[in-house]
Amino acid sequence: MLRRLHPEQPASFEFTPANLEWAKAQMTKFPVGRQASAIIPLLFRAQEQEGWLSRPAIEYVADMLDMPYMRALEVATFYFMFQLSPVGSVAHLQICGTTSCMICGAEDLMKVCKEKIAPEPFQLSADGKFSWEEVECLGACANAPMMQVGKDYYEDLTEESLAKIIDEMAKGDVPQPGSQTGRFSSEPASGLTSLTDSKGDKEEYNGSVGLAVGIGDTIKRIDGTEVPLAAPWQSSGQRGPIGTMGQERPRSAAQQDEARKAAKPAAPAAPAKAPAPAPAAKTGASEPVEAGEKPALLEAPRDGQADDLKMIKGVGPKLEQLLHSMGVYHFDQIAAWSAAELAWIDANLEGFKGRASRDEWVAQAQKLSTGAETEFSARAKKDGIYE
Ligand code: FES
Repeated sequence: MLRRLHPEQPASFEFTPANLEWAKAQMTKFPVGRQASAIIPLLFRAQEQEGWLSRPAIEYVADMLDMPYMRALEVATFYFMFQLSPVGSVAHLQICGTTSCMICGAEDLMKVCKEKIAPEPFQLSADGKFSWEEVECLGACANAPMMQVGKDYYEDLTEESLAKIIDEMAKGDVPQPGSQTGRFSSEPASGLTSLTDSKGDKEEYNGSVGLAVGIGDTIKRIDGTEVPLAAPWQSSGQRGPIGTMGQERPRSAAQQDEARKAAKPAAPAAPAKAPAPAPAAKTGASEPVEAGEKPALLEAPRDGQADDLKMIKGVGPKLEQLLHSMGVYHFDQIAAWSAAELAWIDANLEGFKGRASRDEWVAQAQKLSTGAETEFSARAKKDGIYE
């Protein structure tokens, strides 16, 4: 299928503050200079925010990742999960039309879509709330026929159950995803024939259905209010079930509320004390973040000779430069950081927040400061690589 950008484009795009925070956190997953690897999650988040992917959104993401627009356009136009034209404001139904689903009634489902939504795929319904398309196998063949809406699968569909789901969505209700005939997962339609004694251990809903029921956002657009948006490696003690695109999804409304509170700007990881007096301290960050405790920093390397901080796994040339600009030149400086000082450094690594604790710089530096090698530094020296 020829995939082109929609002829009518909005004037601009920008992430909501919460989505921007999430996007920046995603970028820290990748090594220095390879932030372009975050292109798919960022484009997907832009689509979740707006409902579809516009040219300004693609270019905005390309700018964030320092990529030529053409590279971002290549990705957006290649993958079918990116919607390049406006879709239904409530739901875009993706009906699987591949072998199992086709044999089990996908054509009947598409007939329902044609009657209830619009005669052609990607055409908006009269009220603008719905659109549909036929897609290739979505990997739920044992529960055919099925469709995907947003993050959720609706399986074992019939004409009647599909029509009911569309009606419920139109009313603003959130229908329960998963099997529409009551199957827990993909066990035989007539019930379990083996491992029947494990039945009592089961949760009420199967994996993703449980998540969807808990968060209740099956057809809700992502607006930054439904998650702990911070990346899990950047906020301690908030790990939860992982949902689509690495998003953490709380299971219940109470957990969701809790999570929203937790998503607010991270509190200092360590109790804030008055910063320790730092000899000849300086910082490279334009506005130092007051989190944790500022460690002792240096004006210049001792004896004019800095250690090669790139021997610490996770520190590349850019991060080393940043550390120098902050006043960090030696392994023994890093080795001596307390938890509160580590928190301060993590919070002030502009563009790389959380890297110091994520990559365990302190433990590495403690070894390197004694003159010993870490596995990484030995390999880096041998191969002449840094990351
Ligand atoms: S054929 Fe429809 S999910 Fe595989």
